Amino acid sequence: MSELNNIALKILAKGKGILAADESTGTMTKRLDAVNVSSTTKNRLLFRETLFSSESMKNCVGGVILYDETIKQISSSKKTIPELIATSGSVTGIKVDTGAKVLAGSTEEKITEGLDGLRERLKEYYKLGARFTKWRGVYSISDKYPSKLAILSNAHALARYASLVQESNMVPVVEPEVLMDGNHSAEDCFNKTSEVINKCFEELNLHKIDLTGIILKPNMVLPGTNSGKKISNEEVAKLTLKCLKENVPKSVPGIAFLSGGQSDIEATENLNLINKYNDTNFIMSYSYGRALQQSALKFWSKDINNIKGTQAVFNHRANMCSLAAQGKWSKELEEK
Ligand code: 13P
Repeated sequence: MSELNNIALKILAKGKGILAADESTGTMTKRLDAVNVSSTTKNRLLFRETLFSSESMKNCVGGVILYDETIKQISSSKKTIPELIATSGSVTGIKVDTGAKVLAGSTEEKITEGLDGLRERLKEYYKLGARFTKWRGVYSISDKYPSKLAILSNAHALARYASLVQESNMVPVVEPEVLMDGNHSAEDCFNKTSEVINKCFEELNLHKIDLTGIILKPNMVLPGTNSGKKISNEEVAKLTLKCLKENVPKSVPGIAFLSGGQSDIEATENLNLINKYNDTNFIMSYSYGRALQQSALKFWSKDINNIKGTQAVFNHRANMCSLAAQGKWSKELEEK
């Protein structure tokens, strides 16, 4: 088994998933503004450190994705943040893209940037303790989109990124996110997500990526937020599984979903059903940002010094996600 495969399997070990705490300073500022907390370096560190030192880190969080600011910070216990994360047996990851910019030639779509100087930045992150990385490509659905151009150019960038990351002995999390916004049907989402993932693997193969040493981070298959077309959680799970079975090569060890704007309970319930119906060999887990952090952030914002209380809220959410990653979650356990 390769070293990269071992890292991927450690991150997604039984009942474990990823905590995506890699919001850029701009995004984190929006999240903090929304709960009336001032977005200072100190406050961003305090919230994140509170989560990273929670009890549930040990059994529920196999990996944490950080932003550049956080990986270089020192915790109140004088440990570096990667050292703090390692005390729970969790692996440090780092977001290495520099964001989605307007795609020339299709001005309403986005291309993710960050390849320039990436090889050098990866060396630095490895020295700081990172063993896995994230890059997010983003696609919207409309009658015209995603265009062939957006599908190809983002897949190409994801593959070039993955290649550099494996060269640096780290596991690339490959994240093609088809957004929920829009009035498309679940069937449209299924078709577009299939096309996007398929192209990603075509490019990953062309770049000779060791597929046993990656983690795929896709969206679930859902109807557009403005479509007014609700489908059952069972249908979400079945469509998502069908899409992944048809488009993800069997050598990929694990899939860790993004929550993408679903409520925390919705994201948990859907993941639980995906695992109940999972008839593949893929590990199906989570790499949630909002669905893991939102409830803790809301609680923390009322008293930013209430560390224990905030950790209790986070522990509950992480435990629920961990149960869902094993198909063992239930509404009764959620409400306990
Ligand atoms: P959400 O779970 O909030 O969608 O965030 C996951 C993520 O890392 C997006 O890039």
